[in-house]
Amino acid sequence: MDLSVSESFSFILFGASGHLATLKLYPALYTLALKKRLPENFSIVGYARTAMDDDSFRKLVHDSILRDHGEVNEAKVKNFLEHVHYIQGQYESAEDFKRLAKALDEWERDPKAVRLAYLSIPPTVFTAVLKNLRAGGVHDGKHPFRCIIEKPVGHDSKSFAEIREELLSHFKDEEIYLLDHYLGKEAVRNIYYLRHANPILERMLKHTLIQHVEVTASEAAGIEGRAGYFEHTGTFRDMIQSHLLEMCALLTMQLIEEGESFRESRQRALEQLYLPSDAKPDDLILQGQYAKGVSAPGYTEEQGVSKTSRTNTFVAMKLFSHAQRWEGIPFYLRSGKRLTKKETRISIQFQMPKLSTPGGTPNRLDIILQGEAGMRLHLQTKLGGSTPQFRPLIMEDPLVCMGDCLPEHGLLLLEAIHGNHQWFLRFNEVRAAWILLDPLQEHLDGKKTPLHLYPAGSGGPKEADAWMKKDGRTWF
Ligand SMILES: NC(=O)c1ccc[n+]([C@@H]2O[C@H](COP(=O)([O-])OP(=O)(O)OC[C@H]3O[C@@H](n4cnc5c(N)ncnc54)[C@H](OP(=O)(O)O)[C@@H]3O)[C@@H](O)[C@H]2O)c1
Repeated sequence: MDLSVSESFSFILFGASGHLATLKLYPALYTLALKKRLPENFSIVGYARTAMDDDSFRKLVHDSILRDHGEVNEAKVKNFLEHVHYIQGQYESAEDFKRLAKALDEWERDPKAVRLAYLSIPPTVFTAVLKNLRAGGVHDGKHPFRCIIEKPVGHDSKSFAEIREELLSHFKDEEIYLLDHYLGKEAVRNIYYLRHANPILERMLKHTLIQHVEVTASEAAGIEGRAGYFEHTGTFRDMIQSHLLEMCALLTMQLIEEGESFRESRQRALEQLYLPSDAKPDDLILQGQYAKGVSAPGYTEEQGVSKTSRTNTFVAMKLFSHAQRWEGIPFYLRSGKRLTKKETRISIQFQMPKLSTPGGTPNRLDIILQGEAGMRLHLQTKLGGSTPQFRPLIMEDPLVCMGDCLPEHGLLLLEAIHGNHQWFLRFNEVRAAWILLDPLQEHLDGKKTPLHLYPAGSGGPKEADAWMKKDGRTWF
Protein backbone atom coordinates (compact mmCIF):
# COMPACT_ATOMS: atom_id res chain seq x y z
CA MET A 1 0.00 0.00 0.00
CA ASP A 2 1.32 3.45 -0.91
CA LEU A 3 1.87 5.61 2.12
CA SER A 4 0.67 9.17 1.79
CA VAL A 5 -0.45 11.87 4.16
CA SER A 6 -3.91 13.39 4.21
CA GLU A 7 -3.69 15.42 7.41
CA SER A 8 -2.00 18.81 7.35
CA PHE A 9 1.42 19.19 8.90
CA SER A 10 4.30 21.58 9.53
CA PHE A 11 7.84 20.34 9.17
CA ILE A 12 10.09 22.61 11.23
CA LEU A 13 13.71 22.14 10.41
CA PHE A 14 16.28 23.43 12.90
CA GLY A 15 19.65 23.85 11.21
CA ALA A 16 17.95 24.65 7.89
CA SER A 17 21.17 26.08 6.42
CA GLY A 18 23.17 22.92 7.14
CA HIS A 19 24.66 19.98 5.32
CA LEU A 20 22.11 17.28 6.12
CA ALA A 21 19.20 19.58 5.30
CA THR A 22 20.52 20.56 1.89
CA LEU A 23 21.99 17.19 0.98
CA LYS A 24 19.10 14.94 2.00
CA LEU A 25 16.04 16.56 3.50
CA TYR A 26 14.89 19.09 0.90
CA PRO A 27 15.31 16.63 -2.00
CA ALA A 28 13.41 13.96 0.00
CA LEU A 29 10.54 16.32 0.80
CA TYR A 30 10.34 17.42 -2.83
CA THR A 31 10.21 13.78 -3.97
CA LEU A 32 7.25 13.22 -1.65
CA ALA A 33 5.48 16.23 -3.16
CA LEU A 34 6.32 15.06 -6.69
CA LYS A 35 4.90 11.61 -5.92
CA LYS A 36 1.76 13.27 -4.56
CA ARG A 37 2.29 11.93 -1.04
CA LEU A 38 1.75 15.26 0.69
CA PRO A 39 -1.56 16.90 1.55
CA GLU A 40 -2.64 20.23 0.11
CA ASN A 41 -2.01 21.96 3.39
CA PHE A 42 1.57 21.63 4.58
CA SER A 43 4.41 23.97 5.51
CA ILE A 44 8.14 23.44 5.50
CA VAL A 45 9.68 25.92 7.88
CA GLY A 46 13.43 26.38 7.95
CA TYR A 47 14.85 27.77 11.19
CA ALA A 48 18.51 28.77 11.60
CA ARG A 49 20.75 31.67 12.60
CA THR A 50 21.97 32.41 9.06
CA ALA A 51 20.56 35.65 7.67
CA MET A 52 18.05 34.68 4.97
CA ASP A 53 14.53 35.74 4.00
CA ASP A 54 11.88 33.51 2.43
CA ASP A 55 13.23 34.21 -1.08
CA SER A 56 16.87 33.43 -0.39
CA PHE A 57 15.88 30.34 1.61
CA ARG A 58 13.69 29.14 -1.26
CA LYS A 59 16.67 29.59 -3.57
CA LEU A 60 18.77 27.41 -1.23
CA VAL A 61 16.03 24.74 -1.24
CA HIS A 62 15.65 25.03 -5.02
CA ASP A 63 19.41 24.56 -5.56
CA SER A 64 19.51 21.59 -3.22
CA ILE A 65 16.66 19.90 -5.14
CA LEU A 66 18.31 20.65 -8.46
CA ARG A 67 21.66 19.21 -7.30
CA ASP A 68 19.99 16.01 -6.18
CA HIS A 69 17.45 15.50 -8.97
CA GLY A 70 19.65 16.73 -11.83
CA GLU A 71 16.76 18.05 -13.86
CA VAL A 72 13.51 19.47 -12.51
CA ASN A 73 10.15 20.67 -13.72
CA GLU A 74 10.40 24.33 -12.67
CA ALA A 75 6.61 24.76 -12.40
CA LYS A 76 6.40 21.83 -9.95
CA VAL A 77 9.34 23.12 -7.91
CA LYS A 78 7.74 26.58 -7.80
CA ASN A 79 4.53 25.02 -6.54
CA PHE A 80 6.46 23.14 -3.83
CA LEU A 81 8.39 26.27 -2.81
CA GLU A 82 5.14 28.09 -2.07
CA HIS A 83 4.93 25.86 1.03
CA VAL A 84 8.46 26.79 2.14
CA HIS A 85 9.18 29.53 4.73
CA TYR A 86 12.12 30.68 6.74
CA ILE A 87 12.54 32.05 10.25
CA GLN A 88 15.90 33.46 11.21
CA GLY A 89 16.43 32.98 14.92
CA GLN A 90 18.75 31.95 17.71
CA TYR A 91 18.47 28.46 19.17
CA GLU A 92 18.74 29.88 22.70
CA SER A 93 16.06 32.56 22.35
CA ALA A 94 12.55 31.79 23.69
CA GLU A 95 11.38 35.05 22.09
CA ASP A 96 12.49 33.83 18.65
CA PHE A 97 10.63 30.56 19.23
CA LYS A 98 7.49 32.56 20.13
CA ARG A 99 7.83 34.29 16.77
CA LEU A 100 8.14 30.86 15.16
CA ALA A 101 4.99 29.59 16.94
CA LYS A 102 3.03 32.69 15.88
CA ALA A 103 4.11 32.24 12.25
CA LEU A 104 3.15 28.54 12.38
CA ASP A 105 -0.35 29.45 13.58
CA GLU A 106 -0.71 31.76 10.58
CA TRP A 107 0.62 29.35 7.98
CA GLU A 108 -1.11 26.22 9.23
CA ARG A 109 -4.76 27.35 9.11
CA ASP A 110 -5.50 24.09 10.97
CA PRO A 111 -5.49 23.81 14.77
CA LYS A 112 -4.86 20.06 14.47
CA ALA A 113 -1.92 20.18 12.03
CA VAL A 114 0.84 17.76 13.04
CA ARG A 115 4.04 19.59 14.03
CA LEU A 116 7.35 17.86 13.39
CA ALA A 117 10.48 19.43 14.83
CA TYR A 118 13.57 18.00 13.12
CA LEU A 119 16.84 18.69 14.94
CA SER A 120 19.40 18.93 12.16
CA ILE A 121 21.82 20.80 14.39
CA PRO A 122 24.91 19.88 16.40
CA PRO A 123 24.10 18.22 19.75
CA THR A 124 25.60 21.24 21.58
CA VAL A 125 22.40 23.18 20.84
CA PHE A 126 19.89 20.34 21.41
CA THR A 127 19.12 21.35 25.01
CA ALA A 128 18.30 24.96 24.11
CA VAL A 129 16.02 23.93 21.25
CA LEU A 130 14.19 21.27 23.28
CA LYS A 131 13.56 23.76 26.08
CA ASN A 132 12.39 26.51 23.73
CA LEU A 133 10.07 24.27 21.74
CA ARG A 134 7.91 24.22 24.86
CA ALA A 135 8.73 27.66 26.25
CA GLY A 136 8.04 29.31 22.89
CA GLY A 137 4.76 27.43 22.36
CA VAL A 138 5.71 25.40 19.28
CA HIS A 139 4.84 22.34 21.36
CA ASP A 140 1.55 23.71 22.68
CA GLY A 141 -0.24 20.51 23.73
CA LYS A 142 -2.88 21.09 21.03
CA HIS A 143 -1.07 20.10 17.86
CA PRO A 144 0.09 16.47 17.64
CA PHE A 145 3.84 16.78 18.03
CA ARG A 146 6.91 14.79 16.92
CA CYS A 147 10.53 15.56 17.74
CA ILE A 148 12.98 13.89 15.35
CA ILE A 149 16.65 13.43 16.23
CA GLU A 150 19.32 12.01 13.92
CA LYS A 151 21.72 9.34 15.04
CA PRO A 152 24.25 9.21 16.62
CA VAL A 153 22.32 10.13 19.76
CA GLY A 154 25.18 11.21 22.02
CA HIS A 155 28.78 10.16 21.68
CA ASP A 156 28.84 7.49 24.39
CA SER A 157 26.41 5.91 26.85
CA LYS A 158 26.80 8.75 29.35
CA SER A 159 26.02 11.58 26.91
CA PHE A 160 23.22 9.46 25.45
CA ALA A 161 21.66 9.10 28.93
CA GLU A 162 21.82 12.88 29.38
CA ILE A 163 20.11 13.55 26.03
CA ARG A 164 17.48 10.91 26.82
CA GLU A 165 16.72 12.52 30.17
CA GLU A 166 16.56 15.95 28.56
CA LEU A 167 14.20 14.71 25.84
CA LEU A 168 11.91 12.93 28.30
CA SER A 169 11.76 15.97 30.55
CA HIS A 170 10.12 17.90 27.70
CA PHE A 171 8.22 15.31 25.66
CA LYS A 172 6.38 12.04 26.00
CA ASP A 173 8.20 8.95 24.80
CA GLU A 174 5.75 8.57 21.90
CA GLU A 175 6.52 12.12 20.71
CA ILE A 176 10.20 11.28 20.22
CA TYR A 177 11.54 9.78 16.99
CA LEU A 178 15.20 8.68 16.98
CA LEU A 179 16.15 8.39 13.35
CA ASP A 180 18.77 6.14 11.78
CA HIS A 181 18.40 6.77 8.06
CA TYR A 182 19.67 3.23 7.26
CA LEU A 183 16.36 2.00 8.69
CA GLY A 184 14.62 4.04 5.99
CA LYS A 185 16.45 2.16 3.24
CA GLU A 186 14.28 -0.47 1.58
CA ALA A 187 17.35 -2.66 1.10
CA VAL A 188 18.15 -2.61 4.82
CA ARG A 189 14.53 -3.37 5.78
CA ASN A 190 14.72 -6.23 3.34
CA ILE A 191 17.32 -8.00 5.54
CA TYR A 192 14.44 -8.84 7.86
CA TYR A 193 11.83 -9.43 5.16
CA LEU A 194 14.05 -11.80 3.14
CA ARG A 195 14.16 -14.01 6.22
CA HIS A 196 10.48 -13.51 6.93
CA ALA A 197 9.35 -14.46 3.42
CA ASN A 198 11.81 -17.29 2.69
CA PRO A 199 11.73 -20.14 5.19
CA ILE A 200 14.51 -21.96 3.31
CA LEU A 201 16.79 -18.98 3.84
CA GLU A 202 15.76 -18.63 7.48
CA ARG A 203 16.52 -22.32 8.10
CA MET A 204 20.04 -21.86 6.77
CA LEU A 205 20.80 -19.10 9.25
CA LYS A 206 22.04 -21.01 12.27
CA HIS A 207 25.31 -21.59 14.03
CA THR A 208 25.51 -25.27 13.13
CA LEU A 209 25.83 -24.33 9.45
CA ILE A 210 27.63 -20.98 9.48
CA GLN A 211 31.32 -20.25 9.87
CA HIS A 212 31.26 -16.47 10.09
CA VAL A 213 29.44 -13.33 8.95
CA GLU A 214 30.95 -10.23 7.40
CA VAL A 215 29.13 -6.88 7.36
CA THR A 216 30.81 -4.24 5.22
CA ALA A 217 29.85 -0.65 4.48
CA SER A 218 32.50 0.93 2.30
CA GLU A 219 32.38 4.34 0.70
CA ALA A 220 34.42 5.73 -2.15
CA ALA A 221 33.67 9.29 -1.01
CA GLY A 222 35.56 11.16 1.68
CA ILE A 223 33.96 13.47 4.22
CA GLU A 224 32.40 15.74 1.56
CA GLY A 225 32.94 19.00 3.42
CA ARG A 226 31.50 17.65 6.69
CA ALA A 227 34.61 18.17 8.81
CA GLY A 228 32.55 19.85 11.57
CA TYR A 229 30.42 16.75 12.00
CA PHE A 230 32.97 14.08 11.20
CA GLU A 231 35.92 15.30 13.28
CA HIS A 232 33.90 14.71 16.46
CA THR A 233 32.28 11.52 15.27
CA GLY A 234 34.59 9.33 13.19
CA THR A 235 33.61 6.15 11.37
CA PHE A 236 33.17 4.13 14.54
CA ARG A 237 30.38 6.37 15.87
CA ASP A 238 29.07 7.42 12.45
CA MET A 239 28.74 3.96 10.91
CA ILE A 240 29.21 1.12 13.40
CA GLN A 241 27.12 2.58 16.22
CA SER A 242 23.64 2.31 14.78
CA HIS A 243 23.95 1.54 11.03
CA LEU A 244 26.00 -1.67 11.13
CA LEU A 245 24.70 -2.82 14.50
CA GLU A 246 21.13 -2.34 13.28
CA MET A 247 21.96 -4.47 10.23
CA CYS A 248 23.25 -7.19 12.59
CA ALA A 249 20.05 -6.87 14.64
CA LEU A 250 17.84 -7.29 11.55
CA LEU A 251 19.80 -10.39 10.62
CA THR A 252 19.75 -11.98 14.08
CA MET A 253 16.44 -10.85 15.63
CA GLN A 254 13.61 -13.33 16.19
CA LEU A 255 11.00 -13.19 13.47
CA ILE A 256 8.03 -11.75 15.27
CA GLU A 257 4.76 -13.53 15.75
CA GLU A 258 1.35 -11.90 15.40
CA GLY A 259 0.87 -9.28 18.12
CA GLU A 260 4.53 -9.13 19.18
CA SER A 261 6.43 -5.89 19.00
CA PHE A 262 8.87 -5.61 16.11
CA ARG A 263 10.92 -2.98 17.92
CA GLU A 264 11.17 -5.09 21.06
CA SER A 265 12.50 -8.01 19.07
CA ARG A 266 15.04 -5.76 17.31
CA GLN A 267 16.07 -4.32 20.67
CA ARG A 268 16.53 -7.80 22.15
CA ALA A 269 18.79 -8.72 19.21
CA LEU A 270 20.94 -5.67 19.86
CA GLU A 271 21.13 -6.45 23.56
CA GLN A 272 22.32 -9.96 22.70
CA LEU A 273 25.38 -8.69 20.82
CA TYR A 274 28.51 -9.00 22.92
CA LEU A 275 32.30 -8.75 22.99
CA PRO A 276 34.07 -11.74 24.54
CA SER A 277 35.32 -10.65 27.95
CA ASP A 278 38.63 -12.55 27.65
CA ALA A 279 39.66 -10.91 24.34
CA LYS A 280 42.20 -8.09 24.15
CA PRO A 281 40.81 -4.85 22.61
CA ASP A 282 43.33 -5.08 19.73
CA ASP A 283 41.87 -8.47 18.82
CA LEU A 284 38.40 -6.97 18.65
CA ILE A 285 38.99 -3.70 16.86
CA LEU A 286 41.32 -1.91 14.50
CA GLN A 287 41.19 1.66 13.19
CA GLY A 288 42.60 3.52 10.22
CA GLN A 289 42.64 6.88 8.50
CA TYR A 290 42.99 7.68 4.80
CA ALA A 291 46.18 9.33 3.67
CA LYS A 292 46.84 11.10 0.36
CA GLY A 293 46.01 8.85 -2.57
CA VAL A 294 46.57 9.10 -6.31
CA SER A 295 43.69 11.49 -6.92
CA ALA A 296 42.37 12.45 -3.51
CA PRO A 297 43.75 14.31 -0.49
CA GLY A 298 44.44 12.64 2.82
CA TYR A 299 41.98 13.11 5.68
CA THR A 300 44.18 15.62 7.50
CA GLU A 301 44.41 17.69 4.31
CA GLU A 302 40.62 18.06 4.10
CA GLN A 303 39.26 21.52 4.81
CA GLY A 304 38.39 22.01 8.47
CA VAL A 305 40.32 18.94 9.67
CA SER A 306 43.16 19.34 12.15
CA LYS A 307 46.58 18.43 10.73
CA THR A 308 47.12 16.20 13.75
CA SER A 309 43.64 14.65 13.76
CA ARG A 310 43.40 11.06 14.99
CA THR A 311 39.79 10.66 13.89
CA ASN A 312 39.22 7.20 12.40
CA THR A 313 37.88 6.97 8.84
CA PHE A 314 38.13 3.16 8.84
CA VAL A 315 37.18 0.60 11.47
CA ALA A 316 37.12 -3.19 11.53
CA MET A 317 35.71 -5.01 14.53
CA LYS A 318 34.51 -8.37 15.73
CA LEU A 319 31.52 -9.25 17.89
CA PHE A 320 29.23 -12.17 18.75
CA SER A 321 25.58 -12.74 19.54
CA HIS A 322 24.06 -14.61 22.47
CA ALA A 323 21.02 -15.45 20.33
CA GLN A 324 20.81 -19.23 20.44
CA ARG A 325 20.94 -19.77 16.69
CA TRP A 326 23.99 -17.47 16.35
CA GLU A 327 25.96 -18.58 19.41
CA GLY A 328 29.71 -18.72 18.76
CA ILE A 329 29.55 -17.22 15.25
CA PRO A 330 31.92 -14.27 14.78
CA PHE A 331 30.52 -11.19 13.08
CA TYR A 332 33.20 -9.08 11.38
CA LEU A 333 32.09 -5.50 10.82
CA ARG A 334 34.04 -3.15 8.60
CA SER A 335 33.42 0.37 7.39
CA GLY A 336 35.56 3.06 5.83
CA LYS A 337 35.74 6.14 3.67
CA ARG A 338 37.80 6.66 0.52
CA LEU A 339 37.89 2.95 -0.23
CA THR A 340 37.81 1.45 -3.73
CA LYS A 341 34.03 1.43 -4.09
CA LYS A 342 30.72 2.14 -2.46
CA GLU A 343 29.16 -1.06 -1.24
CA THR A 344 27.06 -2.22 1.70
CA ARG A 345 27.03 -5.96 2.01
CA ILE A 346 26.32 -8.84 4.35
CA SER A 347 28.26 -12.00 3.51
CA ILE A 348 27.46 -15.23 5.29
CA GLN A 349 30.09 -17.91 4.94
CA PHE A 350 28.85 -21.44 5.55
CA GLN A 351 30.94 -24.31 6.85
CA MET A 352 32.91 -26.54 4.49
CA PRO A 353 31.12 -29.81 3.73
CA LYS A 354 32.28 -32.75 5.84
CA LEU A 355 33.13 -34.74 2.72
CA SER A 356 36.17 -33.62 0.79
CA THR A 357 35.42 -31.36 -2.21
CA PRO A 358 38.76 -30.97 -4.00
CA GLY A 359 39.04 -27.48 -5.47
CA GLY A 360 35.88 -26.45 -3.64
CA THR A 361 35.35 -23.40 -1.47
CA PRO A 362 32.73 -22.94 1.26
CA ASN A 363 29.21 -21.88 0.30
CA ARG A 364 28.55 -18.21 0.76
CA LEU A 365 25.54 -15.96 0.59
CA ASP A 366 26.09 -12.29 -0.24
CA ILE A 367 23.30 -9.81 0.31
CA ILE A 368 24.47 -6.61 -1.36
CA LEU A 369 22.36 -3.72 -0.20
CA GLN A 370 24.10 -0.76 -1.81
CA GLY A 371 26.42 -0.51 -4.76
CA GLU A 372 25.60 -3.20 -7.29
CA ALA A 373 22.72 -4.42 -5.15
CA GLY A 374 21.96 -8.09 -5.51
CA MET A 375 21.92 -11.51 -3.93
CA ARG A 376 24.65 -13.95 -4.76
CA LEU A 377 24.74 -17.57 -3.66
CA HIS A 378 28.09 -19.32 -4.08
CA LEU A 379 27.61 -23.04 -4.64
CA GLN A 380 29.94 -25.79 -5.87
CA THR A 381 29.49 -27.93 -8.96
CA LYS A 382 31.40 -30.94 -10.21
CA LEU A 383 33.94 -30.63 -12.98
CA GLY A 384 33.88 -33.30 -15.68
CA GLY A 385 36.03 -36.36 -15.08
CA SER A 386 36.04 -39.62 -13.19
CA THR A 387 37.37 -38.09 -9.97
CA PRO A 388 35.18 -35.50 -8.26
CA GLN A 389 36.72 -32.05 -8.62
CA PHE A 390 34.66 -28.91 -8.02
CA ARG A 391 34.30 -25.41 -9.37
CA PRO A 392 32.24 -22.47 -8.04
CA LEU A 393 28.73 -21.96 -9.35
CA ILE A 394 27.39 -18.50 -8.66
CA MET A 395 23.67 -17.80 -8.68
CA GLU A 396 23.01 -14.12 -8.77
CA ASP A 397 20.14 -11.70 -9.18
CA PRO A 398 19.89 -7.94 -8.76
CA LEU A 399 18.17 -6.78 -5.61
CA VAL A 400 16.77 -3.38 -6.46
CA CYS A 401 13.77 -1.68 -5.00
CA MET A 402 10.72 -2.14 -7.21
CA GLY A 403 7.26 -0.76 -6.57
CA ASP A 404 6.72 2.06 -4.17
CA CYS A 405 10.33 3.23 -3.64
CA LEU A 406 10.96 6.42 -1.71
CA PRO A 407 14.17 8.09 -0.50
CA GLU A 408 15.09 6.92 3.00
CA HIS A 409 14.38 10.24 4.73
CA GLY A 410 11.14 10.64 2.74
CA LEU A 411 9.81 7.27 3.84
CA LEU A 412 10.76 7.86 7.47
CA LEU A 413 9.17 11.32 7.44
CA LEU A 414 5.89 9.93 6.12
CA GLU A 415 5.96 7.29 8.83
CA ALA A 416 6.69 9.91 11.49
CA ILE A 417 3.78 12.06 10.33
CA HIS A 418 1.58 8.95 10.63
CA GLY A 419 2.93 8.35 14.13
CA ASN A 420 4.47 5.02 13.12
CA HIS A 421 7.58 4.27 15.22
CA GLN A 422 8.44 0.84 13.83
CA TRP A 423 11.54 1.94 11.92
CA PHE A 424 12.70 4.49 14.48
CA LEU A 425 15.09 3.53 17.26
CA ARG A 426 13.99 2.88 20.81
CA PHE A 427 15.95 4.49 23.62
CA ASN A 428 16.90 1.03 24.87
CA GLU A 429 18.26 0.06 21.47
CA VAL A 430 20.54 3.08 21.36
CA ARG A 431 21.55 2.47 24.95
CA ALA A 432 22.44 -1.16 24.19
CA ALA A 433 24.58 -0.06 21.24
CA TRP A 434 26.54 2.48 23.29
CA ILE A 435 27.05 0.07 26.18
CA LEU A 436 28.44 -2.49 23.75
CA LEU A 437 30.77 -0.01 22.09
CA ASP A 438 31.89 2.22 24.99
CA PRO A 439 34.90 0.05 25.95
CA LEU A 440 36.06 -0.09 22.33
CA GLN A 441 35.67 3.66 21.87
CA GLU A 442 37.72 4.18 25.00
CA HIS A 443 40.39 1.93 23.53
CA LEU A 444 40.37 3.79 20.20
CA ASP A 445 40.70 7.12 22.03
CA GLY A 446 43.89 5.91 23.74
CA LYS A 447 46.92 7.88 22.52
CA LYS A 448 48.90 4.70 22.05
CA THR A 449 46.22 2.83 20.08
CA PRO A 450 47.50 2.55 16.49
CA LEU A 451 45.77 4.48 13.72
CA HIS A 452 46.77 2.73 10.50
CA LEU A 453 47.10 4.95 7.45
CA TYR A 454 45.86 3.77 4.04
CA PRO A 455 46.01 5.53 0.69
CA ALA A 456 42.75 7.17 -0.37
CA GLY A 457 41.13 4.98 -3.04
CA SER A 458 42.63 1.74 -1.73
CA GLY A 459 41.08 -1.27 -0.02
CA GLY A 460 41.86 0.05 3.49
CA PRO A 461 44.82 -0.48 5.80
CA LYS A 462 46.87 -3.59 5.06
CA GLU A 463 46.92 -4.19 8.82
CA ALA A 464 43.16 -4.96 8.57
CA ASP A 465 44.01 -7.94 6.35
CA ALA A 466 46.65 -9.16 8.79
CA TRP A 467 44.17 -8.65 11.66
CA MET A 468 41.64 -10.89 9.88
CA LYS A 469 44.34 -13.45 9.04
CA LYS A 470 45.04 -13.92 12.75
CA ASP A 471 41.57 -15.54 12.88
CA GLY A 472 42.48 -17.68 9.87
CA ARG A 473 40.16 -15.72 7.52
CA THR A 474 40.31 -13.19 4.71
CA TRP A 475 37.87 -10.39 3.89
CA PHE A 476 35.65 -11.23 0.95
N1 LIG B 1 25.64 15.48 7.76
C1 LIG B 1 25.35 14.22 7.82
O1 LIG B 1 25.48 13.49 6.85
C2 LIG B 1 24.85 13.59 9.10
C3 LIG B 1 24.82 12.21 9.20
C4 LIG B 1 24.33 11.65 10.35
C5 LIG B 1 23.88 12.45 11.36
N2 LIG B 1 23.94 13.81 11.26
C6 LIG B 1 23.43 14.63 12.37
O2 LIG B 1 22.50 15.57 11.85
C7 LIG B 1 22.64 16.82 12.49
C8 LIG B 1 22.97 17.89 11.47
O3 LIG B 1 24.17 17.57 10.80
P1 LIG B 1 24.80 18.55 9.70
O4 LIG B 1 25.94 17.83 9.11
O5 LIG B 1 23.74 19.09 8.83
O6 LIG B 1 25.36 19.71 10.63
P2 LIG B 1 25.98 21.11 10.21
O7 LIG B 1 25.83 21.37 8.77
O8 LIG B 1 27.34 21.20 10.82
O9 LIG B 1 25.07 22.10 11.08
C9 LIG B 1 23.70 22.34 10.77
C10 LIG B 1 23.39 23.78 11.10
O10 LIG B 1 23.49 23.98 12.50
C11 LIG B 1 23.97 25.30 12.77
N3 LIG B 1 25.20 25.18 13.56
C12 LIG B 1 26.37 24.61 13.20
N4 LIG B 1 27.27 24.69 14.19
C13 LIG B 1 26.65 25.30 15.21
C14 LIG B 1 27.04 25.68 16.52
N5 LIG B 1 28.26 25.41 16.98
N6 LIG B 1 26.16 26.30 17.29
C15 LIG B 1 24.90 26.55 16.84
N7 LIG B 1 24.50 26.23 15.60
C16 LIG B 1 25.34 25.60 14.80
C17 LIG B 1 24.26 25.92 11.43
O11 LIG B 1 23.16 26.75 11.09
P3 LIG B 1 23.11 28.29 11.45
O12 LIG B 1 24.48 28.77 11.73
O13 LIG B 1 22.52 28.92 10.22
O14 LIG B 1 22.20 28.36 12.63
C18 LIG B 1 24.35 24.77 10.47
O15 LIG B 1 23.97 25.12 9.18
C19 LIG B 1 23.70 16.63 13.56
O16 LIG B 1 23.06 16.29 14.76
C20 LIG B 1 24.51 15.44 13.06
O17 LIG B 1 25.08 14.76 14.15
C21 LIG B 1 24.42 14.38 10.15
